[in-house]
Amino acid sequence: MWYGPAIDGLFRGRTIRSVMQHPPIETALELHDACKSFAGVVALQATSIAFEAGRTTVLIGPSGCGKSTLLRLINGLLEPDRGCVVVRGRTLSRANVGELRRRMGYVIQEGGLFPHLTARRNVTLMADYIGWPRERVNSRLSELAELTRFPADGLERYPRELSGGQRQRVSLMRALMLDPDVLLLDEPLGALDPMIRADLQDELREIFRRLSKTVVMVTHDLDEAGFFADSIALMRDGRVVQRGSLAALVERPADEFVTRFVRAQRRTRPPGDTP
Ligand SMILES: Nc1ncnc2c1ncn2[C@@H]1O[C@H](COP(=O)(O)OP(=O)(O)O)[C@@H](O)[C@H]1O
Ligand SMILES: [Mg+2]
Repeated sequence: MWYGPAIDGLFRGRTIRSVMQHPPIETALELHDACKSFAGVVALQATSIAFEAGRTTVLIGPSGCGKSTLLRLINGLLEPDRGCVVVRGRTLSRANVGELRRRMGYVIQEGGLFPHLTARRNVTLMADYIGWPRERVNSRLSELAELTRFPADGLERYPRELSGGQRQRVSLMRALMLDPDVLLLDEPLGALDPMIRADLQDELREIFRRLSKTVVMVTHDLDEAGFFADSIALMRDGRVVQRGSLAALVERPADEFVTRFVRAQRRTRPPGDTP
């Protein structure tokens, strides 16, 4: 069927192409040929990768392949030896790293809560530091406790007095406190037992959807990657070997390593458990 004249009438002055295309997906974060070594050992080879705004990208790969290094380069905790990191079009530099980092919430591997501070203080530390008024801090804290389903009476407890799942909720609240555009999560559920982990996976995915943040999350579990990711980046020896959906990794592996990685992960599943 020919819709030409009707479309001409409807969209006069604009090209049909521009009307019919999906809106472009914005890039929130980019690495341009960024690399990092420690004492001559390469943690991340020269890497160029882009992370789309409002989407969840999962970094996965064997231990030591450079996942945490990539995350730390994004938020400027590490400086690349060469190349650069671009956040919302601005190149990360010593001059702007403080400001840009405040727009990125970071849940570090093992949670990283301060043991000598209560849950409340852990969450509000940064907001207090930059001078938010008390009422603003308290109302944001209540919002986050509700969002993460953290019990109000837990706020006055120290990390050692909380369960593993509750500690992860505190880490997440802390990362979200300043309402960042970007959330970086380094194996946020790694240390939890399987049932608590499954519950938190559901809740976390719901939170990502509701907040539509740009999320970069590290895991070493392929099922977890598939559960969260709009896009997966599989890494090995400091480089990204394949980027795409879980289905693409399984059905169109880029090389032998991808095939082996997928097979090894599937083997750890209980018998009869299909994807
Ligand atoms: N601060 C550091 N000092 C020295 N070596 C490091 C440091 N951070 C990471 N590495 C090394 O860089 C490599 C990549 O580490 P990392 O990014 O932590 O891997 P992953 O998070 O994928 O397990 C590893 O060989 C690790 O030992
Ligand atoms: Mg790591």
